[in-house]
Amino acid sequence: MKVGIMGCGSIANTLVRFKLEDKLNVDLTCFYDLNIDNATKLAKKVNAQVANSIEELIKNSELILECASQGAVRGSIPQILKSGTNVIIMSVGALLDTDFKANIESIAKENNSTIYLPTGAITGIDTVKAARLGEIESVSLITRKPPISLGQEIEGDTEKVLFEGKASEAVKEFPKNINVSSTLSLASGIDADVKIIADPKIENNTHEVHIKGTFGELVTITSNVSSPDNPKTSMLAAFSAASLLNKLSETIQVGS
Ligand SMILES: NC(=O)c1ccc[n+]([C@@H]2O[C@H](COP(=O)([O-])OP(=O)(O)OC[C@H]3O[C@@H](n4cnc5c(N)ncnc54)[C@H](O)[C@@H]3O)[C@@H](O)[C@H]2O)c1
Repeated sequence: MKVGIMGCGSIANTLVRFKLEDKLNVDLTCFYDLNIDNATKLAKKVNAQVANSIEELIKNSELILECASQGAVRGSIPQILKSGTNVIIMSVGALLDTDFKANIESIAKENNSTIYLPTGAITGIDTVKAARLGEIESVSLITRKPPISLGQEIEGDTEKVLFEGKASEAVKEFPKNINVSSTLSLASGIDADVKIIADPKIENNTHEVHIKGTFGELVTITSNVSSPDNPKTSMLAAFSAASLLNKLSETIQVGS
C-alpha cells in the first residue's frame, strides 16, 4: 500500500526509521509538511516524493497518515476524504468538536473513504470498545508529564495540577498533549474526566485510565518514554501508528 505522510516531525521520523529497519509492511511514498525542509529530509531517506500541495499528496497516496496538528486535520482531512482516500489521524483532539466529526464522517460515507484513529499513547482501547456494548458509568484519565513536556518550569518536587475538567476542553487547552483523552472519549462514547499534572518527579509521560461499567472495572497505567525529537509526544504513539499500518495488510488480525 502506498502511504503518504502529512506532517514530518517526530512521529514521521519514527515511521521512517521503522521502514528502514524493515518493520513496516507498507511503502512510504510521499511526504508533505508546511516546512518543506522537514518533508525533503524524510523523503530522501526512503526514496519518496515530496508533495508541494495536498493535491499532490493525494495523487501519490492510497492512504494518508496525518501526524501534523489539529489545524492540519481541520484544514485538509475533508479534502482528502472527498478524494476517496483513506486517512489515519493522529491529532485526534480535533474530533472532539462534534460538528467537525459529524462533517468528516458524512464526507467519508459519501466518498467511500475510511477514517482510522490509532490507539495512540494509551492502553486498552479494544477493551473500552467492547465495554461500550454494555453501559459505561464513568471514564477518567490522569495524565502526568515532566514539566518540560507541558511547557512548565517547576522548582522543587511539588507537582502542579494544570487542568481538571472534560476531555473536550482539555484538547482545546492542550492541543499537543492530550490526544489520548480524545481517543478514550471517542472509544467510550463519554466525554472523559481529565486531570493533567506537571510532575517534576517523573521522567515518562504517564496515562492512568479508570473505567467503570456493567462489564466491571478497568484500570490501566501506561508509562511512556518521550520521543527524542518531541518531549510532548510519546514514542508509543508512533509505534501505534506503525502497528495500525501493518494491521491493515495482515491476514490474521489480533485484537479488536
Ligand atoms: N494520538 C496520540 O496518541 C498522539 C500522541 C502523540 C502525538 N499526537 C499528535 O500527533 C501530531 C504529530 O506529533 P509529532 O510529535 O510528530 O509533532 P511534531 O511537532 O514533531 O511534528 C509535526 C510536523 O507537522 C508539521 N505541520 C504542522 N502543521 C501542519 C499542517 N497544517 N500541514 C502540514 N504540516 C504541518 C510541522 O511543521 C512538523 O514538521 C500532533 O498533533 C500531536 O499532538 C497524537
